[in-house]
Amino acid sequence: MKIDAIRGREAAHFLPVVRRLPLALAEGRGSRVRDVEGQEFVDLTAGWGVTCIGHCHPALVEAIRAQAGRLMQTTNLFYTLPQLDLIERLNAITPDAITRSFLVSSGTEAVEGALKLAHRATGRANFVSTENGFHGRTLGALRVIGQAKHRDPYRALLPDGHVVPYDDLEAARTAVNDSCAAFIVEPLQGRAA
Ligand SMILES: Cc1ncc(COP(=O)(O)O)c(C=O)c1O
Repeated sequence: MKIDAIRGREAAHFLPVVRRLPLALAEGRGSRVRDVEGQEFVDLTAGWGVTCIGHCHPALVEAIRAQAGRLMQTTNLFYTLPQLDLIERLNAITPDAITRSFLVSSGTEAVEGALKLAHRATGRANFVSTENGFHGRTLGALRVIGQAKHRDPYRALLPDGHVVPYDDLEAARTAVNDSCAAFIVEPLQGRAA
């Protein structure tokens, strides 16, 4: 199928959040991907890090296949062995002060969890973040986002955050006062405009 036909069909029913490139991908192996017309490309986006080990690594494919054939999604009412294995492995590779993991499915949920945890731990309600920072698109994440184009359409729903310039330690020190629950910053601003 040609890209124009795919774009037309998708436009009828899909609600986009970003402008797509004119490329419909069909399959991938390692760093190579192939589009629906058979052209091969090198994928330098790596799913924004999600596919950083490459597409369809045999060990990962096998692990997903084996789990899908054993047990699907459960609620968090139950213990499962893969989850136990994961949190113990995370504990082994994280600094000693971090002893527990909060498991989620996306970066946005991790940010939401961190903001809520900071509020519960400190009792404070303000957050400091940096200009151009990206933390996701949910309301909690938009509270701390440093990009006006994402935040402004929802300004009426969001309390004012405190945004300081990126890479300005003095500004961050001044902003982090007694009302601040947490300072959130990306070590590398991968999505800065
Ligand atoms: C720094 C940062 N935080 C949070 C997110 C949101 O992650 P997700 O898209 O997995 O919800 C992103 C996504 O690009 C990100 O780059």
